[in-house]
Amino acid sequence: MNRITFSDLPAQFNSVRSQTEASWSEIIGKASFIGGEHVAAFERDFAAYTGADFCLGVGNGTDALEIGLLALGLPANSIVLVPANSFVATAEAALNVGLRVRFVDVLDDYSIDIQDLRAKLDSEVSCLAVVHLYGHPAPMGELLELARSAGVLLIEDCAQAHGAAIDGKKVGTFGSFGAFSFYPGKNLGAAGDAGAVVTNDATLHEKMRRIANHGRLSKFDHNLVGRNSRLDALQAALLTQKLRHLDAWNRQRVYNADSYRASLTQSEFLSLPPKIEGSVYHHFVVRTSRRNELKAFLSDNQIETGIHYPIAIPDLQAFQDDAGSSCPNASAMAEELLSLPVAEHLRHSQIEHVANTVNRFFCA
Ligand SMILES: Cc1ncc(COP(=O)(O)O)c(C=O)c1O
Repeated sequence: MNRITFSDLPAQFNSVRSQTEASWSEIIGKASFIGGEHVAAFERDFAAYTGADFCLGVGNGTDALEIGLLALGLPANSIVLVPANSFVATAEAALNVGLRVRFVDVLDDYSIDIQDLRAKLDSEVSCLAVVHLYGHPAPMGELLELARSAGVLLIEDCAQAHGAAIDGKKVGTFGSFGAFSFYPGKNLGAAGDAGAVVTNDATLHEKMRRIANHGRLSKFDHNLVGRNSRLDALQAALLTQKLRHLDAWNRQRVYNADSYRASLTQSEFLSLPPKIEGSVYHHFVVRTSRRNELKAFLSDNQIETGIHYPIAIPDLQAFQDDAGSSCPNASAMAEELLSLPVAEHLRHSQIEHVANTVNRFFCA
């Protein structure tokens, strides 16, 4: 068996190469790098794909969160609740726009701990940042109800969940806005940094569009102090092509995850992620107290794995000022998580080979 890689971005690109290179050649020929038809077309297509009324292309997923939060106009220094097990950007974005963060613990199935969330929802909180981590849609019904009754806004970090849905409704359309990253390794990835924010709120969308483009909608119409974070035409042209394959790629991820569930032996030493309807399995994360040994064993057997994430955000040095955010389950879990390769380039025999190798490790 050849080496099993975590992803195969060259193969992804090759499946859209000819159409993308034709668009890139046209863009470069016309030097129409910023804005223009390719960006507008992707924004239309991605809005339609998510079922949102509006989509704004931006520079990356962190900017998408920051621009969305800025546009909401939350009270300065108010608190955003953020799950303790996420990529650091969810917390970083809130802090970078003059808000504070308070971390919420997670449960063994990686979902947010609603009881801890309730306990941490006080009058200083203005917003709940929900993360659809690993591609699993968060329990939006319960979370929206909680946010509504507490009078706080809810936003969605969809950086790992392009196409994930609850009863057919795509993530990103439940809260005030949904922020997406198109970092190359995401389920929908660009050829560099890129991101988007979707919303059903026309006023919010217009404000976000201004913030992302120096406070203007047209050339010198600067009516607020903004910044520069634009999706460029070359990235938009590639994303338009890749978007056409996203559902098929996501189906293969779900199939691979189901194959793992059928072939991996769950035991007191190995926990598998639950089957979650509507997940797009950005990662397939297992839990074991022998994580580092298993990772080394798989590496010796030519199988790439990842760790998402090795340190819970509240335990990172950069977040030591965010007092009152103890999240013991997330802290303990961080030492035991291992992401097995699950992306669309892997076929059944390769998933079975990974599963058999994992089973062999625990039998030895
Ligand atoms: C959950 C989550 N939020 C936000 C981001 C930030 O996206 P970007 O790297 O495009 O800024 C990422 C990307 O890794 C992510 O996984």
